[in-house]
Amino acid sequence: MAGDAEAGEKVFRKCKACHQVGEGAENKTGPALNGVVGRVIGGHEDFKYSKTLQEMGEAGDTWTPEHLDAFLKKPKDFAKGTKMAFAGLRKDEDRADVIAYLATFEE
Ligand code: HEM
Repeated sequence: MAGDAEAGEKVFRKCKACHQVGEGAENKTGPALNGVVGRVIGGHEDFKYSKTLQEMGEAGDTWTPEHLDAFLKKPKDFAKGTKMAFAGLRKDEDRADVIAYLATFEE
């Protein structure tokens, strides 16, 4: 399902406690997410990731829309041991929209 980036901006409010995007975005509790769509998993060079995301990245896995969808649905199912303390986005539409929103931010 193709997401709606504008709707995704509202969904992203749930992520803002830990993540920043856009100009001047910095790492907080979670890594800055500019350019995350398509990037290697655990690939922000200045962020200290959990072992599980680090290993996925080392294996060459990238944040395809499909991987993002699975991670955001249930972070701990996609990446057992992740330190992202977030239950997940239950609605398919919310995940598609927030992924479309993230895709508007380049590295
Ligand atoms: C990691 C997205 C909510 C904390 C990530 C990554 C993505 C992401 C894509 C992987 C980044 C990478 O590999 O560079 C989101 C979205 C959220 C959300 C879209 C809202 C729907 C949250 C919240 C928190 C959080 C609320 C804090 C309570 C983290 C942390 C990591 C992470 C600590 C690193 C995980 C690890 O190393 O295992 N997030 N996140 N996130 N996020 Fe979130």
